Amino acid sequence: MIRSVVIGTGSALPARRVSNAELAEQVDTSDEWIVERTGIRFRHIAGEGETTATLAADACRTALTAAGIDAQDIDLIVLATATPDQTFPASATKVQAMLGIDDCVAFDVAAVCSGFLYAVQVVDSMIRSGVAKRALVIGAETFSRILDWEDRTTCVLFGDGAGAIVLEAQDTADEGGRGILTTKLHADGRHNELLYVDGGVSTTGTVGKLRMKGREVFRHAVTNLASVMTESLAMAGLEADQVDWVVPHQANARILDATARKLGLVPAKVVVTVDQHANTSAASVPLALDVAVRDGRIQQGQIVVLEAMGGGFTWGAAVIRF
Ligand code: UT7
Repeated sequence: MIRSVVIGTGSALPARRVSNAELAEQVDTSDEWIVERTGIRFRHIAGEGETTATLAADACRTALTAAGIDAQDIDLIVLATATPDQTFPASATKVQAMLGIDDCVAFDVAAVCSGFLYAVQVVDSMIRSGVAKRALVIGAETFSRILDWEDRTTCVLFGDGAGAIVLEAQDTADEGGRGILTTKLHADGRHNELLYVDGGVSTTGTVGKLRMKGREVFRHAVTNLASVMTESLAMAGLEADQVDWVVPHQANARILDATARKLGLVPAKVVVTVDQHANTSAASVPLALDVAVRDGRIQQGQIVVLEAMGGGFTWGAAVIRF
């Protein structure tokens, strides 16, 4: 049986770190409001020369080093992003060039905050079908460039960054072996107006700015995330108490708490980085994963659940024996 095994993780953040207090000098908000309602304390904001592709390539370099393989060994790059460097070509091809890879398959996936989960399922399918052997799966965003910096209800919530994993095809005869055990995705396109960008190539010919009805998104997020995690664990034949770590999309600390409570998971099993990175959309899950791998919390052989929900709506989860 071929499984996709995580053999390395990496991440990258822009150099500039912005506190809530600094934002409160620009818009009518406060550190108290942001911390109480979201748990966010800091976010990183891309500066000149820092783009989705440069952050993605930096995250890939650290993931490749962790995996102990050469960039030329990669035959597939899938980059999840809603903020590509250019409308086309895919930013994944820019990453390919930056990494000096002569030939591979490279494309972007657009599912906003769930993009990394979508990319993981696509790559896992390609690996298990024998199309790819070693892949870079990336979530990378520069949401600061689509924020309305005069809208306090959204601009305080997001940040920039990138995370990447290296997935490798490994043959395992053992049901209890390492690798991605299950992935489950959903979409419900009726909710476009709750979280969207008010511009686009084929409508306004502009990039647009992010708009969100936060309270309604919040409600859907808790329900959808708890149900997709339950679904994906059932598909893997596991109970919630067998989970070692949940690495959730980092949108709001209150969503993380409420979802964990619904599943009966102790908060100590939930990896939280929203305080340091804010919501980095498709980058948030691989960024948080890399943090928890590097600080030694996530160990080989443990059961790790990834989950995310975002614009569309789209949502999904993956269960991995790490
Ligand atoms: O990544 C995709 C998924 N995204 C999410 O999951 C986001 C989900 N939503 C949320 O995280 C929360 O709904 C928010 C953090 C966006 C908002 O928190 P909330 O507790 O739902 O607040 P609210 O929208 O109900 O607003 C409460 C009050 C309002 O004032 P009034 O109308 O009660 O007078 C807002 O105008 O807070 C006000 N407010 C602010 N005050 C200070 C909104 N933004 C701010 C702000 N600073 N930045």
